[in-house]
Amino acid sequence: MLPGMSTNHVRIVEVGARDGLQNEKTLLPADVKIALIDRLSSTGLKTIEATSFVSPKWVPQLADAAEVFQHIRKLPGVSYPVLVPNEQGYERARAVGVTEIAVFTAASEAFNRKNINASIDESIERFIPVMKRAKEDGVKVRGYVSTVLGCPYQGEVPVSDVVRVARRLHEVGCYEISLGDTIGVGTPAKARAMLKAVAQEVPMPALAVHFHDTYGQALANILACLEEGVRVVDSAVSGTGGCPYAKGATGNVASEDVVYMLHGLGMETGIDLDILVATGAWLAGQLHKETASRVTRALTAA
Ligand code: HMG
Ligand code: MG
Repeated sequence: MLPGMSTNHVRIVEVGARDGLQNEKTLLPADVKIALIDRLSSTGLKTIEATSFVSPKWVPQLADAAEVFQHIRKLPGVSYPVLVPNEQGYERARAVGVTEIAVFTAASEAFNRKNINASIDESIERFIPVMKRAKEDGVKVRGYVSTVLGCPYQGEVPVSDVVRVARRLHEVGCYEISLGDTIGVGTPAKARAMLKAVAQEVPMPALAVHFHDTYGQALANILACLEEGVRVVDSAVSGTGGCPYAKGATGNVASEDVVYMLHGLGMETGIDLDILVATGAWLAGQLHKETASRVTRALTAA
């Protein structure tokens, strides 16, 4: 077990079907997305972000959110959260039976404006009625803070801004706050310091980390954050995706690589790495690209 740890178990939040596919140039048909999520369900993952009920004009890749959500096989004990930016998204999600959502904002004003056409405060104001309805409906709400280690427009993002936004999301009722290095610029000491500062205001069990791997730092950052005490890690099978507002940004860290590292550290995930690798290799084939997962490359090399 890593030093200072109360538990050896890490929950992986699989975001490939949402964060990955929202940024892929290849548009996958709904039946392939459904097959992807069904395959992910068979790996032992407990949280699989399924899709996003945002404006289809902004994210055409996920315009089929309702169809996908309706047709995935929902295993007992597995959550299938979806992204919701406003009440309109909440209504669309609830109409197909969604029981967990994620709301999202950023620590940088400029990024938030490009991403959701709102200031940070406006975006949180938009969540308030969504949070109220979610509470009444018994719907769980996760919150994302983007650009926690850097912004494509503003550059440096003060840790105090990350702390303020994370605390606010926790106060308005998010059960878990995912801290996102949206453009993958962070390095381990900075990631650890940021997490430590946030954890002084939001309890560590309510925090998750979300790294994109643009500069190849994601696994190192995750290890630093595990040592600091985090036990929830977001990742995307096959490392798919990118960021439309950050040139050269790559996808999330690959789930296969995170699970391989965690198992190597003697930590538990409940995930079958072989099934995950087979799923990642299959997805790369569907997207007609080489997988970004080093583990999948190694294990499927001819
Ligand atoms: P807007 O244009 O300011 O909103 O967009 P609006 O209220 O003026 O609506 C414009 C049009 O969109 C209207 O349609 C609305 O009906 C429609 P029109 O009258 O023009 O025909 N609309 C919707 N349609 C379907 N579902 C909805 C919805 N809402 C409005 N929910 C808005 C504001 C927030 C809607 C828009 O900016 C948007 O959808 N943005 C989404 C951007 C996005 O999905 N980004 C990626 C997710 S965040 C992320 O990836 C980061 C993360 O991974 C963590 C990290 O890495 O940091 C989470
Ligand atoms: Mg992301």
